[in-house]
Amino acid sequence: SAEVKLAIFGRAGVGKSALVVRFLTKRFIWEYDPTLESTYRHQATIDDEVVSMEILDTAGQEDTIQREGHMRWGEGFVLVYDITDRGSFEEVVPLKNILDEIKKPKNVTLVLVGNKADLDHSRQVSTEEGEKLATELACAFYECSACTGEGNITEIFYELCREVRRR
Ligand code: GTP
Ligand code: MG
Repeated sequence: SAEVKLAIFGRAGVGKSALVVRFLTKRFIWEYDPTLESTYRHQATIDDEVVSMEILDTAGQEDTIQREGHMRWGEGFVLVYDITDRGSFEEVVPLKNILDEIKKPKNVTLVLVGNKADLDHSRQVSTEEGEKLATELACAFYECSACTGEGNITEIFYELCREVRRR
């Protein structure tokens, strides 16, 4: 079976862990440890191919050296921001720039995710802004909620696996 290494990046508190847990268990954990860094294994059949995913849920607080190591390790990346936190959106491009630097001359395989779509009343980043950034980064874009499960979170991970396998 195919092996795919995925890593999730984004500012602390955007919901990286909640997204991974939602994908793996279809559940939402309010009290999830905010600083924990973990790896998970998950097997799925995607387009008739058995894919073994290794998923690294990074901690938003990790230092530069740790982050670099995780970026070298990963083959596909989920860049997450929180639609109610403009600062987290503004951290996406710097993250992509570091990824480019580490992966060059290869193109970085990534998807962009705006999480916490259930908190629309506190929204600071419009859907259009997310779409525009994804166009600039030449990647797929999803708005979703780890809390309600809206936004097809399974598809985020599957699409990233497809992109990695296409390379
Ligand atoms: P670090 O591990 O510190 O980098 O944070 P993280 O990105 O893993 O965030 P985490 O998943 O721990 O979520 C942070 C807080 O936001 C928690 O209280 C979650 O319950 C909450 N949260 C995560 N996703 C959502 C969501 O889609 N909607 C809402 N309303 N809350 C969410
Ligand atoms: Mg976390």
